[in-house]
Amino acid sequence: MPNMNAALKALFFALVQLRAAEALDNGIGRKPHMGWSSWNVAQCDSASATYAIDTANKFISLGLKDLGYEYVNIDDCWTTRSRDGSGKLVPDPSKWPDGIKPVVDQIHEMGLKFGLYGCAGQQTCAGFPGSDGAVHAASDVSQLAGWGVDFWKYDNCFTPCLDNPPPQTCGRPAGNTKTWYAPMRDAILDVQETNKIHFNLCNWGRDEVWTWGAEYGHSWRMSTDNWGDWASVERIGSSAAAISDYSGPGGFNDLDMLYLGSSKINADQERLHFGLWAIAKSPLVLGLDLNKISDWTLDIIKNKGIIDINQDSLGKAATTFTPPGSQGPVNGKIHPYWAGPLSDGVVIGLCAGTSGGKYGVSFKDVPGLVDGEYSWEEMYTGETGTGSSIEFDIKLHDMRVIKVTTAGAKVRGKGRGKARIDPSL
Ligand code: GAL
Repeated sequence: MPNMNAALKALFFALVQLRAAEALDNGIGRKPHMGWSSWNVAQCDSASATYAIDTANKFISLGLKDLGYEYVNIDDCWTTRSRDGSGKLVPDPSKWPDGIKPVVDQIHEMGLKFGLYGCAGQQTCAGFPGSDGAVHAASDVSQLAGWGVDFWKYDNCFTPCLDNPPPQTCGRPAGNTKTWYAPMRDAILDVQETNKIHFNLCNWGRDEVWTWGAEYGHSWRMSTDNWGDWASVERIGSSAAAISDYSGPGGFNDLDMLYLGSSKINADQERLHFGLWAIAKSPLVLGLDLNKISDWTLDIIKNKGIIDINQDSLGKAATTFTPPGSQGPVNGKIHPYWAGPLSDGVVIGLCAGTSGGKYGVSFKDVPGLVDGEYSWEEMYTGETGTGSSIEFDIKLHDMRVIKVTTAGAKVRGKGRGKARIDPSL
């Protein structure tokens, strides 16, 4: 019955299409997520129960939990090298002596959340079992759900490739990343009544993930890794401006872990790294050992004013602007002028990305503000003021993050009664 087959096939594809249009909207991820991830700490060695519990304790003792740091996420290498006889993932007993569930329970009792890492390909990037597209997606999610896991980072190694067998990092992918991320998204949707799992797509920005990420996950890596050096901050930070519009409540560009505490960047660079990630509405995920954190790094990651800007309910990412007479953005370099709307004002970021010196703007030149007097607060120095412009002396690679409050602002219009706050706010 060839006709019958054709009809069934058409129905099948119609159902697949219907499913593909379904967004992963399970009510979470309305703000960029905040937490910690094990990978930058000691790669495979930090994928253990000890690190997870220790980090959760540190979230509380260092006051990070009170500021919103919530997810304790274990990255690659938490399983054994192969699945068990029934195809299940096996937590490495040397790293998880009591399994995953008791650790998740303990972390939940502390009022925090717990995340794990997997991969859409045959193996994870470090060579542990991957979900292999649709092959293990449902089974893996049922394990996560059974343990109460809140977060799932999903990598892109050993995925379908024109080179056979697929290498760790494919140069010639056999299709669009979406194809192998869809089964996991659907498996997560299938458990959403009982488990709200944050789905983090880690496809390194391939296939312009920002254009479709919100239909598949709650956050998506928009670049290759942050290697903990200034070049990474420049590379990732400078490419965030062009895709700022794609972030919003329910789905955010993930600029990768905050590599503060890396010996390759100094305190000024750490301030720019944190400030820029925050105003770009990236998830704020610490990639450092909280036992070894310096006082200045702790000060930076505990900056409540900047965290509040990142977590603002509007969820709109700041982007670059160019005041009259200044040079426009230069590819690969951190542009000096950034701004974005907040629910009660505007955030301005001033970045000394290429040279130290005086940086300032008139509020009338800032998107979202009009000619007038506003109150402002700079979040790193605590300086406050009122006026129609700001100016700061900024050291090379440092940043100032200014919140301009629009409520009650004195504005000047061209004619009496015409002055107003930009309605796009
Ligand atoms: C990379 C990923 C990193 C980390 C690593 C683990 O692909 O971008 O963030 O997860 O794999 O092997």
